[in-house]
Amino acid sequence: MKEYLTWFLDEFDYPEFSKKSLLDCYEKIAKCDTTYPLVCQMLDEYERDINFNPDDFIPKMQRIAQTLNISNYTVDLLVLILMTKHLKKVYEREGVNEEIWRTGVMDLKYKDTECTLIHGVSGTFVTWWFYRFLNFTRFAFHKLQFQIVPFKGEYDKDGLSLREGDSVIEVHIPRTGTRLDRESLLLSYKCASEFFQSRFNQRPVFVCASWLLYPENKNMLKPGSNLLAFMNDYDIIRWENYENYDQRWRLFDTMEEDIDRLPSDTSFRRSYIERMRNGLPLGWGYGVLDYDKLNN
Ligand SMILES: CC(C)(COP(=O)(O)OP(=O)(O)OC[C@H]1O[C@@H](n2cnc3c(N)ncnc32)[C@H](O)[C@@H]1OP(=O)(O)O)[C@@H](O)C(=O)NCCC(=O)NCCS
Repeated sequence: MKEYLTWFLDEFDYPEFSKKSLLDCYEKIAKCDTTYPLVCQMLDEYERDINFNPDDFIPKMQRIAQTLNISNYTVDLLVLILMTKHLKKVYEREGVNEEIWRTGVMDLKYKDTECTLIHGVSGTFVTWWFYRFLNFTRFAFHKLQFQIVPFKGEYDKDGLSLREGDSVIEVHIPRTGTRLDRESLLLSYKCASEFFQSRFNQRPVFVCASWLLYPENKNMLKPGSNLLAFMNDYDIIRWENYENYDQRWRLFDTMEEDIDRLPSDTSFRRSYIERMRNGLPLGWGYGVLDYDKLNN
């Protein structure tokens, strides 16, 4: 286990702070008669069935964290990283290119960065998020992540008809720390479209539910913005205001409540700060993108 962990942290170039936290966490777990068997049980369960039940895992992860007095965020990330070893074998067995596994597991590093910035510890506070990668039902290509989901609602436009429950491909935008340039974006859709059509016979109709599709963002982003171009590809069919500013961490990488102390180093952050100062809501949107039309 330690050999794989060390390889993984080096291979994906984790920062020294995270490497140390995760390796220390592993050492403590390995030395303890209570915690080491719990990790082995989780890994065995996952190897037996990739559709493992997270309800069995969560109490075990909590018990490890409490026994050793380590942050739950760090323990969770450590267990998820150890699980990616078997996931790699699943990709091999299924004949799926290792590069897709690599792009997918990079998400753990993005989540680690997020957790370090927001909570000051290496780890993840969205453990559940990674389950669909581990279940081999979410796949990452270049800058985006994709999974099949049932469509919500009814849609009829420009020859595209969708009914409640129809299979569509949901798009997720990870926090890669790099920009969402147009070329990579189009390549992500192209690769996903080919992969889902050939493997799952799934037509390339994409949907996205995100704070990045909140229609008001269009008034807050500058011309030439990558996010603006991303938004304009979607037909935003539903959107809602959030009740409060709890989701601000997504843009500001902090839970800071004082608007005057939020970082204002980018134009999008400055626009959001202005909006909050004016007491205006933030929100999210749900959009549809017909890939065949994007090409035409
Ligand atoms: C997707 C993402 C990479 C796009 O970034 P981008 O390519 O820089 O986007 P744009 O070109 O539209 O950026 C326009 C401006 O907004 C800033 N910006 C965009 N996303 C930002 C973010 N998440 N945090 C801070 N600033 C951001 C850019 O730095 C740029 O600032 P500038 O005008 O001062 O140079 C970025 O928004 C991101 O990492 N988001 C987090 C992932 C996420 O929230 N996913 C959705 C989960 S539901």
